[in-house]
Amino acid sequence: MIAPSILSADFARLADEVAAVKGSDWLHVDVMDAHFVPNLTLGLPIVEALLKVTDIPMDCHLMIEDPDRWAVGYAEAGAHNVTVHVEAAADPVKIARDLRAAGAKAGLSIKPGTPLEPYIEVLKEFDTLLVMSVEPGFGGQSFIADVLDKVRTARNLVDTGHLRLLVEIDGGINADTIEQAAEAGVDCFVAGSAVYGAGDPAKAVAALRDQARNANHRFA
Ligand code: DX5
Ligand code: ZN
Repeated sequence: MIAPSILSADFARLADEVAAVKGSDWLHVDVMDAHFVPNLTLGLPIVEALLKVTDIPMDCHLMIEDPDRWAVGYAEAGAHNVTVHVEAAADPVKIARDLRAAGAKAGLSIKPGTPLEPYIEVLKEFDTLLVMSVEPGFGGQSFIADVLDKVRTARNLVDTGHLRLLVEIDGGINADTIEQAAEAGVDCFVAGSAVYGAGDPAKAVAALRDQARNANHRFA
């Protein structure tokens, strides 16, 4: 699965930019609050507006403080998957249950320096694990390959039936990095600058999907 990140899109033409990635599996929307991360982007009103103009399942990545308070609103609005950061969540299990009760999938994200092991039990409540492969906050950064060890561990836990979730990766995914991520066992690839920096974003999505599929015969 490929999830274009609209963080790299033209914010003055968001509806057109979403239409430009037709055929994407998920639409990745980066919500930043200038507290959990240094950057400030967009919030629930813009997500609600985007939900009216697209059928692509929306993948909301909340890089915010106090997700215990705010996350469920994105699920109630109709987001398909809502991901919170474990570093910000006071009670991730309650958040996951609230998100699912509101009809969304529940995602948990870990920053590059955050280990996976302490959260394996908690992840039983989640549908998605979002492994950050850059420090959250900005698009266009370089891929941190060290996080692929966490992807391999998560892949193994899923393949052996200990967890049931999608493994998603976010940050620095492009034609040079997607194959190693696919080989490590990623299911869903977020790509911002590699999609919106391309002349034809929909074509870039299709090309990334082909590359990932060819790198890992599990998807063939
Ligand atoms: C970074 C965001 C990413 C970002 C990825 O904090 O979570 O979703 O848009 O951008 P690229 O693909 O350019 O690294
Ligand atoms: Zn993101």
